[in-house]
Amino acid sequence: MEGVFLTLEGLDGAGKSTQARLLAAFLEERGLKARLTREPGAGLPPVREALLLREDLSPEAEYLLFSADRAEHVRKVILPALKRGEWVVSDRYLDSSLAYQGHGRGLPLAWLLEVARLATLGLRPRRTFLLDLPPEEALRRVKDPDRLERLGLPFFHRVREGYLRLAEAEPERFVVLDATKPPEAVQAEIQAHLRPLLP
Ligand code: TYD
Repeated sequence: MEGVFLTLEGLDGAGKSTQARLLAAFLEERGLKARLTREPGAGLPPVREALLLREDLSPEAEYLLFSADRAEHVRKVILPALKRGEWVVSDRYLDSSLAYQGHGRGLPLAWLLEVARLATLGLRPRRTFLLDLPPEEALRRVKDPDRLERLGLPFFHRVREGYLRLAEAEPERFVVLDATKPPEAVQAEIQAHLRPLLP
């Protein structure tokens, strides 16, 4: 039987990695095999470094780097795990690019989607959990806010709005959660939404 592909999205500091870890543990407790993964870097590790080293990258180059990483991630990690029947939980995926490079940096969504068809082979998550929170709160939470502060608060407002629009356009895939709630409460909601999908 084919596995199930789930993603977590949201601003830096929204608590995605904590929720991803708790979700993988929940699935394992249910006797399911969970594969925890993340973007950027799970496909082509040097891409992560290149992105962090070069802060003046054009949005186009940035998007193509994320896409190269994603192309490898889909082919070498996600699809093989799904074929083995595993539940793949990814901390970020294509929606991060649509929100950050599209809505945040202003690249046309149509271009992004065109490249994404090639990069992802059309693979879409079954459910995407959007951990929504105000950018001011997100910045307060991150350990190293320097890099993010340089991007500026208006950028993160655009990213947040972008995420919410993506969610509105695909209500059957997205679950929008209030990430200002305690982590256990957020996790309980994620689990409740997944119950109908569990075997
Ligand atoms: P992430 O690994 O989530 O950040 P951190 O190492 O701080 O936990 O992602 C690194 C940054 O890359 C983050 O600010 C979001 C951004 N990003 C994009 O802009 N587009 C993308 O497609 C992805 C996957 C990430």
